[in-house]
Amino acid sequence: MARLVVVSNRVGVPESGARAGGLEVSIRPALRRRGGIWFGWSGRVSDRDPEPAKTVERDSVAYVTMGLRKDDYEEFYNGFANRVLWPILHYRLDLAEFSRRDLGGYFRVNEFFARNLETLLKPDDVIWVHDYHLIPLAKALRERGHKNRIGFFIHIPCPPPEVLTALPNHERLIPALGHYDLVGFQTETDANNFSRYLTNECALKRIDDDRFAFDDRTVRIGVFPVGVETEAFARLARRAMESSFVREVLGSLSGRIMMIGVDRLDYTKGIPERMNAFERFLAIFPEWHGNVTYLQITPRSRTDIPEYGDLGRLVGEAVGRINGAYGEASWTPVRYINKAHSRTALAGLYRAARVGLVTPLRDGMNLVAKEYAAAQNADDPGVLVLSRFAGAARECTAALLVNPYDPEGVAIAINRALAMPLEERRQRHAAIFKVLAQNDLSHWAERFLQALEHPQAAGNAPVARRAAGQR
Ligand code: UDP
Ligand code: G6P
Repeated sequence: MARLVVVSNRVGVPESGARAGGLEVSIRPALRRRGGIWFGWSGRVSDRDPEPAKTVERDSVAYVTMGLRKDDYEEFYNGFANRVLWPILHYRLDLAEFSRRDLGGYFRVNEFFARNLETLLKPDDVIWVHDYHLIPLAKALRERGHKNRIGFFIHIPCPPPEVLTALPNHERLIPALGHYDLVGFQTETDANNFSRYLTNECALKRIDDDRFAFDDRTVRIGVFPVGVETEAFARLARRAMESSFVREVLGSLSGRIMMIGVDRLDYTKGIPERMNAFERFLAIFPEWHGNVTYLQITPRSRTDIPEYGDLGRLVGEAVGRINGAYGEASWTPVRYINKAHSRTALAGLYRAARVGLVTPLRDGMNLVAKEYAAAQNADDPGVLVLSRFAGAARECTAALLVNPYDPEGVAIAINRALAMPLEERRQRHAAIFKVLAQNDLSHWAERFLQALEHPQAAGNAPVARRAAGQR
């Protein structure tokens, strides 16, 4: 079997502490199973020359990370990747802050990745690149003569061409994806949006349902919804319920029902909108006053970017307003925490919560939704309230699907979830768990790598557009 080289901006180096982010969570187990190299940024920034690459070996994986220079960090990470690509790919044209300097920094860092990566590469390595930070990486490697099989998976949404073309210089950037052998998306909508872009904007010839001719090569498109380690997460949650941490949290609730939200502090997650919905819920359904506690775990993210700081203030104010208006000396309606928690702690808290509130305005997949469902006790499960704009909604069709822009609709769904009879909770949970068990994390990685490495093998060609379980 060829050696696997995974490349992403964030690398899940072992023992680096609890941190939030779906990319790390999904790659780590997949890579551990097969072994290989995980190459990317160390998370460190220096004023002068970037820290040279460092390698940490654990089990069969070598984690190779390098530092970034301050100007690279500003222009590539805080600039083009997270103030232009991130908002635009999440349909937030209003938040995009474009500058030519940042775009230059983005291409420069991709060159820097290619230059450092090629010192490790062997001709028959299979390279799997992840996410929006590294769109032009295959092009940079091809220009250096590398002919390896290279796949790309984007963890976040791909908007329709009508939105994507608002990205300044999109014609320099997006077609660079044609240098990959396989480009994978979370949902069929994302893949269709990209196909439409290639057809309308790049006039690429469509060879068949999944393949486009790009110069003298072929690029394939597929749908690979990322999963969770469903059975293992369910076991983890069962064990975690016995931990002193979860017992202590449960004890502090004094018998009240718990609802939970877990999100990075990011404007795509719809946290202020969710707070408004919870406020409406308290206004419309006073019978729940004093009986429900909403725990919102929200680790800070990308703190040097102004929109993220503004969001922190907005959410803090909303929490203060709700607790001030509805709280009692003996009851705090919202518990709001910025600390990151370990996955074990989260697994236990999910299982202890009667309602999981996952209401992003737009999300590629949303692993928290799947983890919440996987963690439930099948005999007495909680209810997932899920935004229709999360990729996870395509598989979790038995959740209570909501429109996060409609606070009253979400408030009514919260009431319905809290009051739902046991039999209906069981049925909905069983339906979701079945889909999540079918398409778990190992299935995701295997399907992608099979399609990348053996495109002609039976079952891999053409790449299934609609993935198992997707609506
Ligand atoms: N997470 C974590 N600790 C926290 C908060 C989140 O480990 O304190 C994990 C969470 O369990 C999930 C991931 O971070 O696996 C978040 O993934 P998701 O797809 O929901 O959102 P993203 O942050 O990638 O946008
Ligand atoms: C999302 C993105 C990842 C990113 C993660 C955390 O999951 O898809 O690429 O790593 O958020 O964000 P950060 O900026 O801290 O890496």
